[in-house]
Amino acid sequence: MCGIIGYIGTKKAAPILINGLLRLEYRGYDSAGIATIEKNGLSVMKDKGRVKNLYNLDGIDDLEGTIGIAHTRWATHGKPSKENAHPHLDNSNSFAVVHNGIIENYNDLRNFLVKNGYTFRSQTDTEVIPNLIHYYYSKDKVDDKNKVLRAVQHACKDLKGSFAIQVITKYLPDNLIVVRKDSPLVIGKGDGENYISSDIPAILSFTKDFYLLDNYEIAVLSRDQVVFYDFDLNKINKKVTSIDWNATSADKDGYEDYMLKEIYEQPNAIRETIGSRIPENEPCNFEDLSFTKEFLFSINKIYIVACGTAMHAGLSGKCAIEHLCNIPVIVDVASEFRYRNPIIDKNTLCIYLSQSGETADTIAALKLAKSKGATTLAISNVIGSSITREADYSIFTHAGPEIAVASTKAYTSQVVLLNILAIYFAEVLGSAPVEEIKDLKNEILALPEKIESALKTSSQMKEYAKSIYQEKDMFFLGRGIDYNTALEGSLKLKEISYIHSEAYAAGELKHGPIALIESGITVISILTDEKLVEKTISNIQEVITRGAKTLVITNKELPSNNIDVIINVPDTCTLLSPILSIVPLQLLAYYISKEKGLDVDKPRNLAKSVTVE
Ligand code: G6P
Repeated sequence: MCGIIGYIGTKKAAPILINGLLRLEYRGYDSAGIATIEKNGLSVMKDKGRVKNLYNLDGIDDLEGTIGIAHTRWATHGKPSKENAHPHLDNSNSFAVVHNGIIENYNDLRNFLVKNGYTFRSQTDTEVIPNLIHYYYSKDKVDDKNKVLRAVQHACKDLKGSFAIQVITKYLPDNLIVVRKDSPLVIGKGDGENYISSDIPAILSFTKDFYLLDNYEIAVLSRDQVVFYDFDLNKINKKVTSIDWNATSADKDGYEDYMLKEIYEQPNAIRETIGSRIPENEPCNFEDLSFTKEFLFSINKIYIVACGTAMHAGLSGKCAIEHLCNIPVIVDVASEFRYRNPIIDKNTLCIYLSQSGETADTIAALKLAKSKGATTLAISNVIGSSITREADYSIFTHAGPEIAVASTKAYTSQVVLLNILAIYFAEVLGSAPVEEIKDLKNEILALPEKIESALKTSSQMKEYAKSIYQEKDMFFLGRGIDYNTALEGSLKLKEISYIHSEAYAAGELKHGPIALIESGITVISILTDEKLVEKTISNIQEVITRGAKTLVITNKELPSNNIDVIINVPDTCTLLSPILSIVPLQLLAYYISKEKGLDVDKPRNLAKSVTVE
């Protein structure tokens, strides 16, 4: 949830660290801080609030140190405050630590340390770590060059929960130590310098070569090299992974907000997702997926498991797989799945969708399925992310870095990829008519251009936003695949405009929610499924009769039917319609948030990547 950055090299560390934190702010933004190794020892500067506040701290410009660690926080233990901000020091001010994750046994560790004379300055779980390191360091009677490393190792072995930590100390003024368990951490390899980050985009402008740290691995960085160890301090080798993302794609490119940029990037993102997966006159191809024909024929059930927006993409994946492959698909929320004891066997395929690939619940759900003998497939946007390293198979959306907390291009690219995957299965299984598959492929290939047209609804949505931004409640309705879009449209609105909204399957309206419909309430409906259009129109009439204001997103020619506003998006086949009908709803949420003067990219209480339970 929090973001961490580290630097070791020959340049002044502070500006590099603050710059990196600004790029990681979407991971948490209630306080921030940096620690550097200065001539006279460790320096720690931190404050409550946004990263940019660090620029105003007295003495920040005087920092000369070329080694440093930094952190942007999303509070778990202890309220947002200067004391609770990272880095944290041990009692002797010898070790500075930043941490992302949650130390589940911190109470026990704290009690242990208190008994041993340590005091605490914050309410965080993190503060036990530097003190534990100090405890083991002072107990160790062997005074060799690995003394700090051993202290860090012993301290980490005591920790239960998840952690990505960085440690600097006055005892090793030319090194930086990092450790990882269940929280993301990458090391960027430079020339005479090395970088550390919670994710790749934050340091992409410095290097394209990365070491991806695995669980229970420790790295000792110096300016010229990185030495890796397992948890028992045996040296290990790690390969460099080169990332081909463009650094400028992680910048705003002139857009006011990342979210707007990412909405407009959707045509290109989808081109990248399609890539060479739909070759002309040949079956769909997933070079990175080596499922055997026998395995595909043996699948009796598929789970799609995810959180938030990714789960909504999974609902459309279910429609595609069930329709084309005739295999039952269950879509589950990862935080439920992991505690449900799901019915899984070796003939179950479990698909895990995660833009970041770091969502703790989704990773735990994947591990559970693996332990029960299922085959696991991760779909992520981030190469080398934790989930893709856990899964039996992984495929990538290639949508490019998504920075805004509210997901847009990752969602549409996930729906596209799930449709291509369904076609790939169906072609092997021979489970769908050849003509239908051909049409679907052509429609997928036409999506980038059709999204360009859907984006032209922008000015209409901006105007409409002005008329409804002060509302307190709204409803979203849809049937069949349009219900998925209603759910996602409603989530986008809640996330960034803080307007309460509910999404209902239109047919459910009469079973309760209609009691809430009164004069002046806004009801947004999505109508793209030919077979269900008339049914939903009847539901819309029911709310109009009760005084609701109505907006309809559709790809059909509709009579006005007393509907206040009709927004047309390009037509496509039903399975792909969520990719186009969500676009005006993304824009609507965006413009309402702007109208209300809110921080679109960093909505309150949310984080882009939820790496804690
Ligand atoms: C957080 C984000 C959501 C996202 C969800 C799942 O809650 O705020 O936008 O949909 O996590 O993230 P993932 O990276 O697993 O897709």
